Amino acid sequence: MNDREFDVILWGATGFTGRLVAAHLLERYGAGAGGLRWALAGRSEQKLAEVRDALGGAAAALPLVIADAADQSLLDVLASRTRVICSTVGPYARYGSGLVAACAHHGTHYCDLTGEVHWMRRMIDTHHERARETGARIVHTCGFDSIPSDLGTLFVQREMQRAHGAAATIVKFRAREMRGGFSGGTVASMLEMFEEADRDPEVRAVLADPYGLNPQGQRQGLDGPERTLPSFDADLGAWVTPFVMAAINTRVVRRSNALLGHAWGHDFRYDEGMVMPFGPWGFPLAAGVSAGSAAVSTAASFGAVRRLLTPLLPQPGQGPSEQARRNGLFVIDLLAKSAADGPVAIRATVRGEGDPGYASTSRMLGEAAACLALDDLDSPGGVLTPAVAMGDALLARLPVHAGVTFEVA
Ligand SMILES: NC(=O)c1ccc[n+]([C@@H]2O[C@H](COP(=O)([O-])OP(=O)(O)OC[C@H]3O[C@@H](n4cnc5c(N)ncnc54)[C@H](OP(=O)(O)O)[C@@H]3O)[C@@H](O)[C@H]2O)c1
Repeated sequence: MNDREFDVILWGATGFTGRLVAAHLLERYGAGAGGLRWALAGRSEQKLAEVRDALGGAAAALPLVIADAADQSLLDVLASRTRVICSTVGPYARYGSGLVAACAHHGTHYCDLTGEVHWMRRMIDTHHERARETGARIVHTCGFDSIPSDLGTLFVQREMQRAHGAAATIVKFRAREMRGGFSGGTVASMLEMFEEADRDPEVRAVLADPYGLNPQGQRQGLDGPERTLPSFDADLGAWVTPFVMAAINTRVVRRSNALLGHAWGHDFRYDEGMVMPFGPWGFPLAAGVSAGSAAVSTAASFGAVRRLLTPLLPQPGQGPSEQARRNGLFVIDLLAKSAADGPVAIRATVRGEGDPGYASTSRMLGEAAACLALDDLDSPGGVLTPAVAMGDALLARLPVHAGVTFEVA
């Protein structure tokens, strides 16, 4: 693979998130000249040239590659010219399948930002075996969903093993602070998922299954469906509400455990929640947030409501302003325990600077691409998770290049 023309092709470089990933790669790795050999790709040459001009400076040396999702022959050429493809072309269920097929076939590593669980299930069922044969590492969820959850759990389990000689049977993800917004592409992807769930009972079954991304025959365990009500977390002494991305992240973490040969045990349990302020306002706030998110997902499950709301939401290409991206942040605690009624054995914190979904996500995705291209990884091919595909190498990169830190508290 080293004889390929590029190390990384960024497909979707004209989109809201794609532009941010391009800016990150340029800042960290320059444009060719002995470093990472990378290119901008998309469906419109003119739009790509505008992006390259807007990036300025060294970007002038970046090659442009044209490929539309509707043309499989172009996707095959795309996949055969590079060692890694980094895709921000979404909704992935609408545009992404042909490229994953091409990467699995050509042994090209791949990373993206999808949170569309039903589509990941489809990619696993269709391409995992072929990717294993060709050595292609296909890695979904390389942004805020699900790197803090997945690599955070790997990190806290490493610390458990080091300090206590055994993995934790329970890991709890508790988001303490989070400030960020949504882009049109994310809205479109969520709406697409609701549409598919409306039409197809199999999609609904995958979305409802807590082990929906696990390999066939390994879809059972102690975890149940996502919580919808607030609960009191005695380890924190605070009320906790459902975490907005839990239905994605929990599936990814459980797939990691399964792909690692259940290194964290068959009785491993993992859940996610958002911590409410301590004191008398904790419960009313938790009840309000839970009721609010239940109301939003119930409303969004009606096609008529979706059609009414769509024009009012951010459109493709739009997203949080530069100032909002700069002012964002996230702070997540991971609590590891050996028994439900036992003490917290290790408490780790994952922090990120900037809007989690865009500033931080674009850096995490850029680093995932760089990691797949430049680092010495020992994972096999397949449809993997960030922790399984890149594990320690990505844990080492993120604090240095992406402002995302993993520390024992
Ligand atoms: N997990 C996370 O943390 C996270 C965070 C951010 C975003 N995301 C996901 O990332 C994806 C992108 O979001 P976004 O806000 O950046 O979306 P966006 O601004 O709408 O960008 C979409 C990109 O897809 C391209 N595209 C559309 N149709 C295409 C086709 N037929 N062939 C080739 N390219 C095509 C667009 O090209 P044109 O410019 O030519 O239209 C554009 O470059 C979404 O699925 C979103 O959910 C996830």
